[in-house]
Amino acid sequence: MKAVLLDEFGGADVLRIGEAERPTPGQGQVLVEVAATSVNRPDLVQREGKYPPPKGDSDILGLEVAGTVRELGPGVNRWSVGDRVMGLVGGGGYAEYAVAYADHLLRIPESLSFEEAACICEAYITAYLNVFLLGGLEDGDTVLLHGGGGGVNTAAIQLCKALTPNAKALVTASPGKRERVAALGAALVIDYRTQDFAAEVKRFTDGRGVAVILDHIGAAYLASNMKSLAVGGRLVVIGVTSGIEAQLNLGLMMVKRQRIIGSVLRSRPVPEKSAIVAEFADQVLPLLAERKIVPLIHKVYALEDAAQAHREMEASAHFGKIVLALS
Ligand SMILES: NC(=O)c1ccc[n+]([C@@H]2O[C@H](COP(=O)([O-])OP(=O)(O)OC[C@H]3O[C@@H](n4cnc5c(N)ncnc54)[C@H](OP(=O)(O)O)[C@@H]3O)[C@@H](O)[C@H]2O)c1
Repeated sequence: MKAVLLDEFGGADVLRIGEAERPTPGQGQVLVEVAATSVNRPDLVQREGKYPPPKGDSDILGLEVAGTVRELGPGVNRWSVGDRVMGLVGGGGYAEYAVAYADHLLRIPESLSFEEAACICEAYITAYLNVFLLGGLEDGDTVLLHGGGGGVNTAAIQLCKALTPNAKALVTASPGKRERVAALGAALVIDYRTQDFAAEVKRFTDGRGVAVILDHIGAAYLASNMKSLAVGGRLVVIGVTSGIEAQLNLGLMMVKRQRIIGSVLRSRPVPEKSAIVAEFADQVLPLLAERKIVPLIHKVYALEDAAQAHREMEASAHFGKIVLALS
């Protein structure tokens, strides 16, 4: 089968289209003929050799697929050959065929194209898991989201608006994305390059701080994140782009009864991921089917142009998701 391969780790240039062996679905898995996948920031980190796939998963890049079920592995009875599905994979999305656990797949609503479906699982499930299931955001709360133009955080803004219409999303963004972030539903957009986000959060919340923060910046933002968090607030860390070591005032954290939660989706045990996918199917899939939430496609590339798609994400001019489509 056709797949995006790399002979060594490095920049986008290491990606090349080639031939790989078609995978065989194991117990509880199905084979999906991939119509589209999308680029997620962790793919770039894996390409650089800093984010290996979990044991047993494909080492081909790609954390999600949208396509058609072509074969059922042993023990699978919830899908039929020919079903249109989208889902999470531990790896292998950048290929003509991928295997996925049956319970990590969702039926694609008729109202969604394969390209749109390819934008949903990694970004929206990550946002849903961390803001709602772990962060515990409730209607009327205030949440701080960092990087409002990215895949996960455009999804998070949309989910806040749809699931908790009275919650207020305060969102950091670079200047060129401010207007689009505001149009998506942010109550306040903070230019993280020129403004002190902790001061802006303090002003907006009259000193109370926010109930939940979704952070992927890590070390450089820890102190300002803790300043921005309300008494009893939850800081959910899903990325560490600025570094992994930072100082924390434990006393203040204790007195303010705050929680810091680290979270990854990819390496969770299969049954845990299944439970998260099932919860997402109940709570969010109907909103996507009704197009109350519409995935934001920045651009669609052919799978053959994966290197160009990675360069586009590295330039960080995208708003929403970058899709790879198979012809
Ligand atoms: N733990 C998990 O389970 C999990 C799952 C998926 C993704 N992630 C992580 O989540 C993050 C986002 O992934 P993604 O696929 O959505 O990537 P993405 O589309 O590239 O989004 C990242 C966003 O962050 C913005 N940004 C960069 N530097 C910033 C800063 N200092 N302050 C605020 N915003 C900044 C970028 O835009 P500007 O440069 O224009 O600001 C961009 O909009 C990545 O770190 C990824 O590894 C974690």
